[in-house]
Amino acid sequence: LNYPTASFMTSAPTLAQCPSDIGAEVAFAGRSNAGKSSAINALTQQKGLARTSRTPGRTQLINFFSVANDEALRLVDLPGYGYAQVPEAVKLEWQRHLSEYLRERFSLRGLVLLMDVRHPLTEFDQMMLGWADKREMPVHILLTKADKLKNGPAKAALQKVRSRLHEWEDLVSIQLFSSLKREGVDTLSQRLDQWLSP
Ligand code: GTP
Ligand code: MG
Repeated sequence: LNYPTASFMTSAPTLAQCPSDIGAEVAFAGRSNAGKSSAINALTQQKGLARTSRTPGRTQLINFFSVANDEALRLVDLPGYGYAQVPEAVKLEWQRHLSEYLRERFSLRGLVLLMDVRHPLTEFDQMMLGWADKREMPVHILLTKADKLKNGPAKAALQKVRSRLHEWEDLVSIQLFSSLKREGVDTLSQRLDQWLSP
């Protein structure tokens, strides 16, 4: 698919306000600051498509982008989780929305789960994997900010995450990624094509 044709569609505060649950979409999830919005911008080659500088901890919206002017083909930027300064009650509310979206969204074809290569597999990441597994939803993990590590340590981090997830290898694929260096964009596009192509 031609991801650079992506354009902003709408933002929704809750599942009930999301666009019609038809067609196909892939969602980008991960802790706050993992690089979700930057990854969407790298994929679509548009610097400001997904906002990267939004202050975490205020309104958290589910942002939808359509691909190739087709509202039945969507990329979804999910609210980041794990931001320390958010009140507990608000965190629980986001968690509820995220889990509801992951459990019930019919058009969801796959989940792109982003983790900082230096801090992979947080407790919440594992919770996301658990929810995906319940639905047998395929997950593609991006170990982001790979440019922050030298080649050797980055590869070692990749191997470590792979070995920790080996029991899920049917559903889970993993790669290194850097929005800054545009590393791994082609591999990501190919994976998304598998999910979104009819
Ligand atoms: P929330 O929307 O708050 O959940 O964050 P996010 O996951 O969308 O992260 P975002 O894309 O806004 O990036 C957070 C910060 O990390 C920004 O300062 C980015 O410039 C930086 N960043 C993102 N990707 C990379 C990368 O590949 N390499 C480096 N060095 N920095 C990155
Ligand atoms: Mg973001």
